[in-house]
Amino acid sequence: MIGIIGSMPQEIERIRQELEGERTEPIAGREFLIGRVAGTECVLVFSHWGKVAAALTATILIERFHVDLILFTGVAGAAHPMLEIGDVVIADKLIQHDFDISAAGIVSDAGELQKFEIPFLGIRYFSVNPELVEMGRNAAERFLHGENPPPIPARDQVESKLLKRRGRIYSGIVASGDQFIAHPAKLEELRAAIPELLAIEMEGAAVAQVCHAYQLPYLVLRTISDKADHTAAVDFLSFVKNVASEYSYGVLLHLLKDLKTKEGM
Ligand code: ADE
Repeated sequence: MIGIIGSMPQEIERIRQELEGERTEPIAGREFLIGRVAGTECVLVFSHWGKVAAALTATILIERFHVDLILFTGVAGAAHPMLEIGDVVIADKLIQHDFDISAAGIVSDAGELQKFEIPFLGIRYFSVNPELVEMGRNAAERFLHGENPPPIPARDQVESKLLKRRGRIYSGIVASGDQFIAHPAKLEELRAAIPELLAIEMEGAAVAQVCHAYQLPYLVLRTISDKADHTAAVDFLSFVKNVASEYSYGVLLHLLKDLKTKEGM
């Protein structure tokens, strides 16, 4: 069973259109949708926003639905200047950018706690299984540049102002925190603190921490929806509904097929 978490309800609604044999289960203010997507048993759920909400959602998927893998899809703000709206980022490392208890002066066997370090784990970054990252990159590549690539929006659609070119695929560092970043100064601060930062969002590293605790594989896929500056909120919802949801669904479909072939799931 695969757990699929969407960071926006529109993404889950899009995947739901293809869900076969749907049954729903409400738990903790969330609606879990159980069924088959492209022949694979899945549970779909909207994460709700922020690290706590995402951690709770992931924990329920593990404890109540006994999922074997969590796939997280959503949108993110670009943190690296090479990224454009519509690019797809696959996290290979995740960090919680608003986690910092270094000022407490706590010393462990490994020395003083560092900024971003998760106590008792002794790490700042959660690493994603490289094989899964590669599968995610492959699926995104086939979706964006394969036989039936997504259409480029017509000139009169809002999305055409945002999508400057056909999306590219990147893997790298994604940072999560309980803030929608829409300010260049804040973004610069994060870029200075986290070298090689690619994208920022609000849930991925929390899901990673939960999966790390349960030793469960996970993958975080994000479509870039904005540049984390003062224009970040412009056309955000229209982009999510008309572009990002299609991207999440498209990449996911390829990925589920590949996982099925690999695992015989
Ligand atoms: N998700 C999408 N864009 C974001 C941003 N600018 N900050 C945080 N999360 C986001």
